[in-house]
Amino acid sequence: MNVARVKGTRDLLPAESRRFAAAEDAARRIFGAYGYGEIRTPTLESTELFARSVGEATDIVHKEMYTFTDRGGRSLTLRPENTAGVVRAVVENRLDQAPMPLRLWYAGPQFRYERPQKGRFREFRQIGAELFGAPGPAADAEVLVMLFEFLEALGFRDLSVSLNAVPAGAGREAFSEALRTFAGARADRLGEDDRRRLAENPHRLFDSKDPGTAAILENAPRAIDYLDPESRAHHAAVMEILRANGIPFVEDPRLVRGLDYYTKTVFEVTSSRLGAQDAILGGGRYDGLVSDLGGPPLAAVGFAIGEDRLVDVMPLEAAPAPGRVRVIPLAPEQEGYALAVARRLRTGAPVECDLSGRGVKKGLAAAADLGFDEAAIVGPDEAREGTVTIKNLKTREQKTVALPETGR
Ligand code: HAM
Repeated sequence: MNVARVKGTRDLLPAESRRFAAAEDAARRIFGAYGYGEIRTPTLESTELFARSVGEATDIVHKEMYTFTDRGGRSLTLRPENTAGVVRAVVENRLDQAPMPLRLWYAGPQFRYERPQKGRFREFRQIGAELFGAPGPAADAEVLVMLFEFLEALGFRDLSVSLNAVPAGAGREAFSEALRTFAGARADRLGEDDRRRLAENPHRLFDSKDPGTAAILENAPRAIDYLDPESRAHHAAVMEILRANGIPFVEDPRLVRGLDYYTKTVFEVTSSRLGAQDAILGGGRYDGLVSDLGGPPLAAVGFAIGEDRLVDVMPLEAAPAPGRVRVIPLAPEQEGYALAVARRLRTGAPVECDLSGRGVKKGLAAAADLGFDEAAIVGPDEAREGTVTIKNLKTREQKTVALPETGR
């Protein structure tokens, strides 16, 4: 019986992996240049972490988590996102005591039990960044400036950010109440899932995939009208700084992200090349989360990019390394010498030994088919004399040279 891969998971084969690596390399380079250090947190966390951060009533915690009891009776969850784990690690490792601001980025797999479809997987990858200890509007803007530099490095040109601000504290309560009243009066037109959302947490109505609900919400109360004056000023200043830095954004009063920890700024970037409702990335400010998870009051803002979606629409070509060489032994007796030749030739471009035992004629044809630039043929004469015959697979020219002279 063949064992198939688990539904909603992917095998990333070399051509695809190369594109993922290109995205991760750009993140490492650009985020590094902004002062971000890489953090790698566990894929497994205590279930409670997500209930307390992402929120009990969110779709993620309510129905999308891979949760199980381990052999020691603990409830564990495969992380559905990485912000909660990063905050836990910051508090647990006392990074919150370090001089601020603290800048961390990550890349890694996340797990959500969603219905798989184009761009939506049960195991998917995120690249994200979190900035701690910078409460002012310039921090929100800096995160977006860095994000745009990253997206531009990957060849994206006409993306824009959807931006909104959500209330915290009393404003959030008032907004919930207003939404509850508004949607309650129209509950008979809501589906079962959305009636549950209405009862548990009316903010989550905005996550509904039901077009009927979206139509109802057209005229719903707006989060932005429930901001306190300080948050309102913060939001205005973020927009001002984004304009001054040439970051394209559109205000989207309907944007309420599917996680509970946001305060003030929320944003998403969508691509028309993905499905209508699918964002390449999302993020925002979450000034209450560090203290909610046992740390000091510490402002924070960040984002996570869905790497699978990003790579799917990324314009940058991730070409294989140029100048590939294949060393082809004439017969099995020269395979040992072929390894030695390959080691000497390997000074930059990839050099691969053809150890298939199929001989030179078939070996050369295979190397040409696979796009190698050069073949290094080794037979008994070469092995005896310490030479190698280099054949250019494009021009068919060949010459025999002494091994030490072949260094490139
Ligand atoms: P999120 O919006 O839940 O935010 O996820 C961020 C991105 O991950 C989405 O925009 C999407 O591209 C990708 N994503 C989510 N679910 C899937 C899936 N099932 N398949 C493929 N891609 C998916 C967060 O996770 C927050 N932690 C972002 C954040 C960081 N906020 C502040 N800091």
